[in-house]
Amino acid sequence: MDVRTDTSVAALVEDGRANRRIYADPAIFELEMRRIFGRAWLYVGHESQVPKAGDYATATLARQPVIMVRGADGAVRVLFNSCPHRGALVATGRGGHVESFRCDYHGWTFRLDGALQSIPREGDYAGTGFDRACADMRLVPRADSYRGFVFASLAADGPDLAAFLGPAAANLDNMVDRAPDGELEIAGGCFETLQRNNWKIYLENLHDGAHAMIVHQSSFGPGKAAASAAADPLTRFRAEVVAANSQNYEQMGALEVTSYARGHSDMRGFRRAASDEPYYLDYVAKLEERLGKERTEAVLGTQRHNAMFYPGMSVHPVFMQLRVIQPLAADLTRVDIWVLRMKGAPAWMHRRNVAFANTVHSPSSIVKADDLEIYTRVQRGVVAEGEGWLDQRRGTEAAGADGARSTALSEAFIRNQYRAWRDYMAAEA
Ligand code: FES
Ligand SMILES: [Fe+2]
Repeated sequence: MDVRTDTSVAALVEDGRANRRIYADPAIFELEMRRIFGRAWLYVGHESQVPKAGDYATATLARQPVIMVRGADGAVRVLFNSCPHRGALVATGRGGHVESFRCDYHGWTFRLDGALQSIPREGDYAGTGFDRACADMRLVPRADSYRGFVFASLAADGPDLAAFLGPAAANLDNMVDRAPDGELEIAGGCFETLQRNNWKIYLENLHDGAHAMIVHQSSFGPGKAAASAAADPLTRFRAEVVAANSQNYEQMGALEVTSYARGHSDMRGFRRAASDEPYYLDYVAKLEERLGKERTEAVLGTQRHNAMFYPGMSVHPVFMQLRVIQPLAADLTRVDIWVLRMKGAPAWMHRRNVAFANTVHSPSSIVKADDLEIYTRVQRGVVAEGEGWLDQRRGTEAAGADGARSTALSEAFIRNQYRAWRDYMAAEA
């Protein structure tokens, strides 16, 4: 089978099992880049990163460099970050502000919408057949935003962003609704992390309640001890976050996981976010000013955890975490972790959310170390036995109003991811 052209590659996944090859075969990885990441809507950045005309932020979509930029007309566009002359990156670094873009190789300049502005000694092109009209920076085929979250698709056709997100968009709604001023912004930098595992191994773990008490044994013990000893509220919060992984099977089995179309999913109920600290009560009061008591209770009562937008983004609405999953090779994945700030919330809330990121996502996190170690073990183990099969049949699911319901002990959300995988991979590019 030539996986580059053969749509039967989709047969490497069946309902409830996946062939080991899909985690390690470079040819399959290349096909995933084209058929999955080349088609789906991928998160690019947040509008708050580019508040004024000329502000830009760089990103990577399916290994291709792009620039998200606010134009003179106020519109946010996504351009391929490559000079039409000889291909150099036009923007470097994470972002900044420009009047116009200048390529630092031969000095071509471009307007904020990518249109060619000037070429040094342009007269040298006279009589060469050079076509100025073909020398603009190129727009990524489609870009759109949902409540401040900017997405782009490398495919000209396909479902629009709202259809792609479907009912899973409620997770982004909930995230924005939690801000007393009704808006979020990216605050601070991000953790840029590299994991030595296939991207799918990471996604399979997002609502896996069966691993926590095994994998995190080494961290939740000290976490529990620290939580009961801590006097300072932020230290206690951090320790409680670590200790939460000690929930037993019965507790994990009570967490509600919903699987949506196109591989998306979310999990509800995990980790207590409410607090009787004065700072938290102040936050609730501020939110009630905008939403009223009943609506505030509804927004804060929906305890959403690790919502997944297949294939490349996860948010944690309660603690304002945003993760961007970028596959780099079959056994190498980059994950960028951002924290959003709720506008109008007391400063302590943002400190708490940054503390959450430091506790579970930073390179020094004792929780993350557990997970990274096991992802690496899966990647190293998965190549054994050639083309054997791996099982995803644990736990059932039941049809619900907006998606299939299961629990954190069920692998239903994994099966859902692989139904999406198969749908993308079965279709010829
Ligand atoms: S590569 Fe950009 S100006 Fe030459
Ligand atoms: Fe974990």
